[in-house]
Amino acid sequence: MTAEIVVLPTARAVAEALADRTAAALRAALADEPRVTLCLTGGSTPVHAYERLALAEGLDWERVHVFWGDERCVPPEHAESNYAMARRTLLDPARVPESNVHKMPGNCPPDEGAQVYEQALAQFFGDDLRFDVLHLGMGDDGHTASLFPGSPALDERDRRVVPALAPASAAVRERLTLTFPVLSRARLCLFAAAGAGKRDAFSDVLDAYDGEQAGPPAARVTVDGDLTWLVDRELAQGLMTDEDDG
Ligand code: 6PG
Repeated sequence: MTAEIVVLPTARAVAEALADRTAAALRAALADEPRVTLCLTGGSTPVHAYERLALAEGLDWERVHVFWGDERCVPPEHAESNYAMARRTLLDPARVPESNVHKMPGNCPPDEGAQVYEQALAQFFGDDLRFDVLHLGMGDDGHTASLFPGSPALDERDRRVVPALAPASAAVRERLTLTFPVLSRARLCLFAAAGAGKRDAFSDVLDAYDGEQAGPPAARVTVDGDLTWLVDRELAQGLMTDEDDG
């Protein structure tokens, strides 16, 4: 796998690129398939991207099925819910049909929620679980989805969905997360990250890509398809030269 790295001027440009590349990829997939799949990330980076994606031209949301890479174990209307953020920014504005919204059950015990989502994925995908477009972010510690450094979830090779525990500093510790074997089957994985706070983690990702170290969880996402990092100049400062592919 070769990771494409695109340095954009600002965090807003990162969000715009995430939206525009997602729309283009979904349109291309819709030309060939009756239905396509989009796996969303949480956090703050994608908020503007999802607001922009909701306005994208030529996207038949009747044929786009939406999933999540991770979720905080809170009710769906909770301020910390990734579903709530997506509902506000994308699902409602784009009028995504309810039958196409496959949310992670954050409002039940984590073990039960993981099993419920595991069954939902099996029912939809069967044995060929492969997202057409996968969104991922990265935390300052290099986590992605809710795969945190040192977590036993990093070593899960069989289960598709597992409970996870965020560090004590997190607003919500109990999480559900997809596992690496699931993430790795994406046709297109788009990472979006911005800000100086993530510079060290991204430096570790680059070192991992160069084979110098195992790297943080975000470095361990390898995909069958294409993987692109959309980062801003503040994050990439001193690490990359500007390659604004737009
Ligand atoms: C979550 C996300 C998580 C996120 C990173 C970055 O549930 O929090 O899935 O992996 O992408 O923590 O978050 P920010 O975009 O807020 O920096």
